Amino acid sequence: MSNHIDRRGFLVSVGAAAGAAATAGLAGGALGAVGQSQSGGGAGGGGVGARAGRAGRVCAISSANGVPAVARAVERIRAGVDPALAVVEGVGILEADPNDKTVGLGGRPNEFGIVELDASVMHGPTHKAGSVASVQNIMHPAQVALKVLQYTDHVMIVGDGARKFAIAHGFKEENLLTEETRQEWMQWRRHRSEIDDWLTDSQMDWKPDGTRPLTNTEKRAELEERSAGTIHCSAVTPAGDLAGCTTTSGLAYKIPGRVGDSPIIGAGLFTDNEVGSAGATGRGEEAIQSCGAHSVVMEMANGKDPTEACLAVLKKVADRVRRQRRLVDERGRPNFNLVLYAVRKDGAYGSACMIEGREFAVDDGTGARREKCAFLFERRGD
Ligand code: GLY
Repeated sequence: MSNHIDRRGFLVSVGAAAGAAATAGLAGGALGAVGQSQSGGGAGGGGVGARAGRAGRVCAISSANGVPAVARAVERIRAGVDPALAVVEGVGILEADPNDKTVGLGGRPNEFGIVELDASVMHGPTHKAGSVASVQNIMHPAQVALKVLQYTDHVMIVGDGARKFAIAHGFKEENLLTEETRQEWMQWRRHRSEIDDWLTDSQMDWKPDGTRPLTNTEKRAELEERSAGTIHCSAVTPAGDLAGCTTTSGLAYKIPGRVGDSPIIGAGLFTDNEVGSAGATGRGEEAIQSCGAHSVVMEMANGKDPTEACLAVLKKVADRVRRQRRLVDERGRPNFNLVLYAVRKDGAYGSACMIEGREFAVDDGTGARREKCAFLFERRGD
């Protein structure tokens, strides 16, 4: 199967499931020179400054579980592969890994024990996105999202339609629940009354009768334990072309059909080829309600460095979420984590989390590694 740039200037013809072979030999986008490298510094919160971009250099950033993803994305971009294909191939390593319980094969299932996946891809040079949500039995939802981007006039396909779309494009159906995640899900079922998503009267933030709910910090702490993760990966080429991808099994033991931020363009992923690319992991509901990834890119467009941009959006989330009492502790601080990642057009990168202690993965051409995220709030009691 050959890859080429079509008459609209976009990449076409990627094999359905064979990431490496399918992405080989595709040229990058057509943008010109990037701006000068700038160092960031001066981030708020935890005080981890932005890492300087190195103009003309490749950079890929990811969630902490994405060290292999950033390494692969950089390798493929260096080989001339389009950045959208490179990031999809990078996250595909984790989607196929049964030991990563946040994505693809071995991802944690929904309330009924069925693995339901969400993913999105955005291609900077064409400003085109593709996404799928609540898709079952397909190991590589990011590759399906790429097919939506490449081969449809749409952005988002969900549920059974997404599964059938994948099958039509040659993806094979398989059971994604591993024995280990099945056992964990069975364990959760036996105890779920305390940690599911069906709010009791006393946990509701808003009730038509105007009565005030109780705070339930303990419940949210347990929810954070089970919410696990996601993988996001954004990358920039030496020519300054950007792309991003986010893929997840979503909130563990979610209500079937619950869609998080990962497949929602602007929430779990946003890429603007003039500015940068950003993504989110963690509590998807807050990334949705803050238009998290889009907000990060807009903060960068307004002059903030990547770390400052992530912190500014987290601060807005923390300010707004105080109105939902079950989501804050007794001091009014969020009791969940949300992690934002950003890479700028010049290769500068940064990441920040709501609560201290998270890391991110990066390869800025000097090797794939983990670094500490900046943070808005210190971890309580540490
Ligand atoms: N951030 C992943 C999710 O909430 O589904």
